[in-house]
Amino acid sequence: MKDLNRPIGVFDSGMGGLTAVKQLIKFLPNEDIVYLGDTARVPYGNKSKKTVIKFSIQNTLCLLKFKVKLIIIACNTSSSLALNTLRKRFKIPIIGVIEPGVKKALQLTRNKCIGVIGTNATISSNAYQREISRIAPSVKVFGQSCPLFVPLAEEGWLRGKVTLDIIRKYLAPLIKRKIDTLILGCTHYPLLKPSIKKAIGTDIKLIDSANEVAQGVKRLMNVKGIASEENKKGRMKFFLTDKPYNFKGIAEKFLGRKIGYIYQVKI
Ligand code: DGL
Repeated sequence: MKDLNRPIGVFDSGMGGLTAVKQLIKFLPNEDIVYLGDTARVPYGNKSKKTVIKFSIQNTLCLLKFKVKLIIIACNTSSSLALNTLRKRFKIPIIGVIEPGVKKALQLTRNKCIGVIGTNATISSNAYQREISRIAPSVKVFGQSCPLFVPLAEEGWLRGKVTLDIIRKYLAPLIKRKIDTLILGCTHYPLLKPSIKKAIGTDIKLIDSANEVAQGVKRLMNVKGIASEENKKGRMKFFLTDKPYNFKGIAEKFLGRKIGYIYQVKI
């Protein structure tokens, strides 16, 4: 197969990364995609850096077996903790979700006060904060971990009073800081977008990393000349390291469409 027509590899700690696949389908409809969700070991958001790096290396090795032309780390936790290691270790282009989300936030902020929400591991890694300071040192960044958002999204509790109360409680410190832009730094948070909007009002702009990464990948593939030449609808293959309870239902919720067969893989 011609290099250009090889699939894009995407990995995540579980099924949340399908929010990124949903955006890839929108922006790159003719690319083939191989998705790997490490459902046997999810969540990554409360694990140590060493463990997340080890899992991320194994996920990358697994995707390389499918001869992917580039790898997207859909998982914010892996992007925060493992991107640099993966880039040093593997030759193929590896794209994380932090940089594209940060670039968009910096374009949109007016008062130079940006909030970031994510898992405990993402927020305590300071990866978003570091990336923002690297590009725009004068911008203030406030991080807040929201560990209950992942289970809320997986349970499908996307709206309603309980969900709104939880969102308000987590986001109150950021609102106090007068942020005008909020980065959704976790695969699951795009599902909660309508409720987050309701909780914080219309003055704060929301940045969806999944959306930004898809546009970033499109630009990168054009620059590198590795966009698929094939004039057909992209094929998708889904692999999970475990098939947990209701995996198909959850996967379809994140992808926003029906999925065919989901394979199980050992890594
Ligand atoms: N995929 C993770 C992330 O984006 C959320 C779920 C987890 O903790 O593994 O950070």
